[in-house]
Amino acid sequence: MRKPIIAGNWKMNKTITEALELVRNLSIELKDIKDVDILVCPAFTALCSVAQAIEGSNIKLGAQNLFWEEKGAFTGEVSALMVKDAHCEYVIIGHSERRSIFKETNDYVNKKIKAALKAGLLPILCVGERLDEREDNKTFDVIADHVHGALEGLSADDLKNIIIAYEPVWAIGTGKVATPDQAQEVHAFIRKIVADNFGKEVSEGLRIQYGGSVKPDNVKILMEKPDIDGALVGGASLKAESFIALVQACSK
Ligand code: PGA
Repeated sequence: MRKPIIAGNWKMNKTITEALELVRNLSIELKDIKDVDILVCPAFTALCSVAQAIEGSNIKLGAQNLFWEEKGAFTGEVSALMVKDAHCEYVIIGHSERRSIFKETNDYVNKKIKAALKAGLLPILCVGERLDEREDNKTFDVIADHVHGALEGLSADDLKNIIIAYEPVWAIGTGKVATPDQAQEVHAFIRKIVADNFGKEVSEGLRIQYGGSVKPDNVKILMEKPDIDGALVGGASLKAESFIALVQACSK
């Protein structure tokens, strides 16, 4: 059985003070949840403070990005070692906002995943098609391209330390959630690519999150699908009330 994982991607939101207020609420209200992995991904500036605040709780910490080089003249960038040093266990890689706004290619995503794994971080690889690509019936081509490109050169053992998040770009921040059937279809496709390339055992252990307008009232029907193992949540992770309700909805 794959343990569900609900992750809050806070994006470029929350000062340190605001971040601390939110995680304090989460750690109190969610302290008894044992059957769901709970993860928050604040901005870099809040990582260390949040790490201290959640110490000893069931809330895990992730970053939203990293740069693949170990150190040097890369102004404004943060290395995998630095992310690890800030007490992160996870890191989001290849989010569609990174791909579209910051022009991240599959090659960058691949390098970042390798750097994350080398530093002992667990990458959450984001893949997903845009609306025009879906309308052109290119969804599966885009997903295959993102998955193959990102996982190029990795071993089956590496795959045991990776999570994949399927995030259709047209569903992110739009209030337009994929139907459970639409999401399931793509999740099963991703699992099949991983099975074909890394073996059945690895693919069956792989956790695949859905992301894109996940809310407390739609998470449960998504999670009922056999290949949906959690959610990557943007907007609804910014308020204690909605993130708590969302996690509780996934707990048995
Ligand atoms: P959303 O964002 O929940 O606000 O749609 C999801 C994401 O970008 O990870």
